[in-house]
Amino acid sequence: MNHDSSPVICVTGSAKRIGAQIIRHMHSQGYRVIIHYHRSLDEAKKLAEELNAERSDSALLVQGDLNDPSTYSELAAQILSCFKRLDVLIHNASRFYPTKLSECSAADWDALMHSNARAPLFLTQQLVPELRARLGSVISLLDIHSDDRPFKGYVIYNMAKAAHRMMVQSLSLDLAPEIRVNGVAPGANIWPDDDSDQAIDDPKKQRIASNIPLQSIGEPEDIAQAVDYLIRARYVTGHVIKVDGGRSLTLPGDDPA
Ligand SMILES: NC(=O)c1ccc[n+]([C@@H]2O[C@H](COP(=O)([O-])OP(=O)(O)OC[C@H]3O[C@@H](n4cnc5c(N)ncnc54)[C@H](OP(=O)(O)O)[C@@H]3O)[C@@H](O)[C@H]2O)c1
Repeated sequence: MNHDSSPVICVTGSAKRIGAQIIRHMHSQGYRVIIHYHRSLDEAKKLAEELNAERSDSALLVQGDLNDPSTYSELAAQILSCFKRLDVLIHNASRFYPTKLSECSAADWDALMHSNARAPLFLTQQLVPELRARLGSVISLLDIHSDDRPFKGYVIYNMAKAAHRMMVQSLSLDLAPEIRVNGVAPGANIWPDDDSDQAIDDPKKQRIASNIPLQSIGEPEDIAQAVDYLIRARYVTGHVIKVDGGRSLTLPGDDPA
């Protein structure tokens, strides 16, 4: 029987990039971690092996396609069965691609809305009894473009992140006082992968970085530190922290990163 009573965090879409750094950071703070992945099985396994080598039985995997709402209940059940407890739920998984109004389809709506808005709401709904019992918290990865500075050409992504931001604010009221709900809004904290269809060339990267007041893009660890703060911040709820080097103050609106 496992007598480990350390707290448990689940991060969606955490096999790599920002999600993986949140997992590593919170693991280093003594959390047991649940790594949710969709397609990145190899990266997820490698991350779990790395963390289990540091502390045995401290990292487990769950798989799920957030584009399929019929699977949300099963995914929530899998999350709960991992360590038989959950203290913190992080909504990090996200699809991100442009949608021209003239070309966008219902399939684009589903892909972007389901991962960025629908899944966060209904996974939270399923996990509320456990989070309430633990006096836990929910943290959403949003975007500095989820307020009033949309990315040009990304109408559905912008709408999805704005809905997600409103979920944070609404649920912070509905779930208080037992569960705190907050958000972190990255600016440019990691470039799209070079082999992805969102890849950015070097001159554009330099242009974006030089327009940021702090003169560089951030790092996934900057996001992880904000998440760590919000997990500990017992008197903060309904709040969204921008971690963007000041970028939202100078945003041109057409530089997705
Ligand atoms: N990168 C930035 O600088 C930046 C800027 C603004 C906002 N953000 C926000 O910060 C968060 C993390 O950013 P990121 O760039 O690290 O994210 P990302 O790499 O674009 O996506 C994270 C993960 O989302 C998962 N995902 C996508 N579609 C899914 C689906 N249908 N079902 C389940 N999982 C799915 C993928 O998992 P698999 O790989 O396992 O398939 C992916 O690894 C996101 O919410 C993003 O919107 C990031």
